[in-house]
Amino acid sequence: MLDENAKKTMLRKIPHGLYVCGVKDGEEMNGFTASWVMQASFEPPLIINCVRQDSGSHAMIQNSGVFALSFLESGQKEVAAKFFKPQRRVGNKLADIDFTLGAETGCPILTDCLGYVECNVVGSVQQGDHTVFVAQVIGAGIHREGEPLTLESTGWQYGG
Ligand SMILES: Cc1cc2nc3c(=O)[nH]c(=O)nc-3n(C[C@H](O)[C@H](O)[C@H](O)COP(=O)(O)O)c2cc1C
Repeated sequence: MLDENAKKTMLRKIPHGLYVCGVKDGEEMNGFTASWVMQASFEPPLIINCVRQDSGSHAMIQNSGVFALSFLESGQKEVAAKFFKPQRRVGNKLADIDFTLGAETGCPILTDCLGYVECNVVGSVQQGDHTVFVAQVIGAGIHREGEPLTLESTGWQYGG
């Protein structure tokens, strides 16, 4: 039988970074705080991004097949806190934040972050409460040097 406590304790020890995942669907745009992200292939360059199915952004990624990850810097915890609130509750999260649209995907990219990757979804696994989107990195840019914001450093939990 699964030891629930051990499962939770150990899964919470998987290290994660924090990102703002910028999404679009036609003219609509949004962004959400993402942490379940990792590289999945060198060639072609693939990443996986696990997106909760009850979020507004999930449907947008499914429809458009693209997203962009803005890499947050240590010290940008308040940006992550802004973007983990659902758009359907707080309205347009991008209203008072500087962003550009990715050249490859048209997805929003935060101006104030370490840099970004733009991604094109090439496959997905829809099991459980998150969809695993497998995506090819088709664009990337560096904004500045710095240390990435880690989930651990925030004291928050997302996992278990
Ligand atoms: C620390 C933290 C990490 C998160 N990581 C993810 C993640 O990896 N994938 C995901 O789909 N949601 C993640 N979320 C939840 C989303 O940010 C949240 O559901 C958000 O409200 C979705 O926004 P939307 O409904 O406007 O799309 C995380 C939340 C927190 C607090």
